[in-house]
Amino acid sequence: MKIVNNIKELKGYLAQERQKNRKIGLVPTMGALHNGHISLVKRCGKDNDVCVVSVFVNPTQFNNKTDLVTYPRTLDKDCALLESAGCNYVFAPSEQEMYPEPDVRKFDFGTVSSVMEGAYRPGHFNGVAQVVSKLFYIVEPDNAYFGEKDFQQVAVIRAMVKQLNIPVLINACPIIREADGLALSSRNVRLTPEQRQKAPLIARTLKESTNFVPEKSVQEVKEYVINTINADPVMRVEYYEIVDGNTMNAINSWSDTTYPVGCITVYCGDVRLIDNIKYNK
Ligand code: PAF
Repeated sequence: MKIVNNIKELKGYLAQERQKNRKIGLVPTMGALHNGHISLVKRCGKDNDVCVVSVFVNPTQFNNKTDLVTYPRTLDKDCALLESAGCNYVFAPSEQEMYPEPDVRKFDFGTVSSVMEGAYRPGHFNGVAQVVSKLFYIVEPDNAYFGEKDFQQVAVIRAMVKQLNIPVLINACPIIREADGLALSSRNVRLTPEQRQKAPLIARTLKESTNFVPEKSVQEVKEYVINTINADPVMRVEYYEIVDGNTMNAINSWSDTTYPVGCITVYCGDVRLIDNIKYNK
C-alpha cells in the first residue's frame, strides 16, 4: 500500500494502473476510520482492481469550526487498518494541496441539498460537493463508495455527478451497526459512557416505528419517533423527516412515494448523531 500526499504523484501512479486496464475504485473518507469505512474499502476491493482511499478532513464542509477542530485525526491508525483491508493507495493530502486557492464554487442541487442537513448545516453540502468533485477529478475512479448512514449525502453526490457529467458510478453501501443497533460513526468515540449506553435508543425507535406502517399515518409515525427519543433527557431530536428516498421531498402520506425513508438527527448530549430507516409499505 502506498501513502501519497501529492496530487501529481497520485495521478502518475493511477495513469500507470489505467494503462494496464485496471478498474479503479475510490472511497472518500475524513479518516478516524471504523468498521463502517472498512466495509466500504472491502467492497471497493472486491469490485475493482485498484482501491484508493482518501483521508482528508475537509474544512469547507464544516459549518461549525469547533467541530472541525475537534474532529478526530488518526492517520497512522487509519493507514494500518487500510493496509489490512486491502487498500492499494491512501491519498492523504494537506489543505494546501487540496485548496491551493479558496474554492469559490457554489452548487445548487435543489431540494436534495436544501432540506434536512442542508437546512440545519448551511454550506455543508456545498463543501462536500467541492471536495468530492475535486477527488473525482484527481482520481477519475470508475466506482466510488459511500455509506448510507449519510443518506442525504449520497443523494447530493448522485445529483452532483449528474450535474457535472462526471463519469463515475456511485455505490451506496448499507449502514454498519454495533451489536446494540447504534450506527457506526467517527463521532461515537465522543459519547460519554452514559450517552453511549443511551444512544441505541435512536436505532431501536426507528426500527420499532416500521411496525406501524402503513396503519399509522406519516405524521403519527413521526410523532412516535420524536416523542419516544425526546422522552430521554439525554437526547434531543433535531429533526425527523420521512422523505422520498430519491428526491428528499418530505412526504405527507405513504402513497406519496414508493421509497419512504426516515432521516433523523439527534443530539446525544452535545454529540450530533444521524441515522435513517427504510420503510416497507
Ligand atoms: O462522509 C464523509 O466522510 C465526507 O463527507 C466525505 C464524503 C469524505 C467528504 O469529505
